[in-house]
Amino acid sequence: RRPPVPTAPDALEAAARRRMGARGWAYIGGGAGAERTLAANREAFGRYRVVPRLMVDVEQRSLATTVLGRTLPAPVLLAPVGALELAVGGRPDRAEPAVARAARDLGLPVVISSQASTPLEDTAATLGDSPRWFQLYWSRDDDVAASFVARAEAAGADALVVTLDTHVLGWRPRDLDLGYLPFAHGEGIAQYTSDPAFQRLAATRAAAPADPAAAQRPTLAAVRALLTMRRHGATRADVETFLDVFSRSTLTWPDLARLRERTRLPIVVKGVQHPDDARRALDHGADGVVVSNHGGRQVDNAVASLDALPGVVAAVDGTAPVLFDSGIRTGADVFVALALGADAVLLGRPWVYGLALAGQTGVRTVVENVLAELDLTMALAGVRDVVEIGVEHLDAPRPSSV
Ligand code: FNR
Repeated sequence: RRPPVPTAPDALEAAARRRMGARGWAYIGGGAGAERTLAANREAFGRYRVVPRLMVDVEQRSLATTVLGRTLPAPVLLAPVGALELAVGGRPDRAEPAVARAARDLGLPVVISSQASTPLEDTAATLGDSPRWFQLYWSRDDDVAASFVARAEAAGADALVVTLDTHVLGWRPRDLDLGYLPFAHGEGIAQYTSDPAFQRLAATRAAAPADPAAAQRPTLAAVRALLTMRRHGATRADVETFLDVFSRSTLTWPDLARLRERTRLPIVVKGVQHPDDARRALDHGADGVVVSNHGGRQVDNAVASLDALPGVVAAVDGTAPVLFDSGIRTGADVFVALALGADAVLLGRPWVYGLALAGQTGVRTVVENVLAELDLTMALAGVRDVVEIGVEHLDAPRPSSV
């Protein structure tokens, strides 16, 4: 009999794929273009080998670490994942609330997505005292952006994760081939429709003549074509407004410095792949960076995120935390990312697969499995404390096989 939440990463993915259905799988499992970067993110881990060590007393081990001044039970956060109800048959009540309860059980931070299908205040209430970070898609509309930041502050966010690699949505053939685009039925836009600034904006737009410049923007144009074939009314107007304002392509570094002045929250820039971008982010007021390529969902043929990590770590040179995501599937992967200099990692698709298969318990099981393997890898590599994992625990990297 198959376990409800398989332990092996490929079996977990296959089971979730069967459960989620075609649209859920296309959106969640899929990546940009020919999915070369999606594959490269994982392949990169295979090029590093841990060197086991003998006869070190590792009876007492600690996974605890401190990130941005808060001690965490392990160097792992739940990555922000939007439109999450696609994993659970379109049921928002089975998405963020279940994830928040699992994160609370684990004591690990959840990064609440801008594109959540539950308002962040409700998620914060479920989390209680447990850590929560808020992920910001920097809206084209200043009032919406400011409102999201204010709501995150009021909801007790420990940090603001500003995702800068998605100022336009990537080219995602699996979604396109299903004649379906996420958000077109309102998935993941409740964070917006529950926002007072967004509601004012949507009302103003509904009263005003259509903005021809907005209609030229590729994502909006594509989705509008789809929506035209569908039901009209409030949902359509909200979806259009969301697509038009969820992100802003005009951003440059001085905008980050202005955001820095407007919030007391630590700012963590997500999506960094180039060492210069890490330096600039810190120069313009960021308190940390996430090395990420959005799980291969944005730029196909982009460098594997793990290959970008050492250069960013060198550029940051210990002055700020460097977090990492894209491609982590196992505890041994976490070990490798930490050895290459990450201070903590974000776990993405694997916990979503756990959610699809077994809700709160599924998320918890997947994360516990990753932590258990990390702990055992430390023991067998002769490491007592997670903060001591370093490049000396790895063999020289092997050449790429792809
Ligand atoms: C994401 N990711 C993401 N990132 C973000 O900043 N805001 C978001 O709303 C989302 N939404 C989202 C949805 C889905 C379905 C996926 C798979 C990913 C990116 C996410 O935070 C993280 O960077 C990647 O998931 C890491 O890649 P892996 O490890 O999941 O392959």
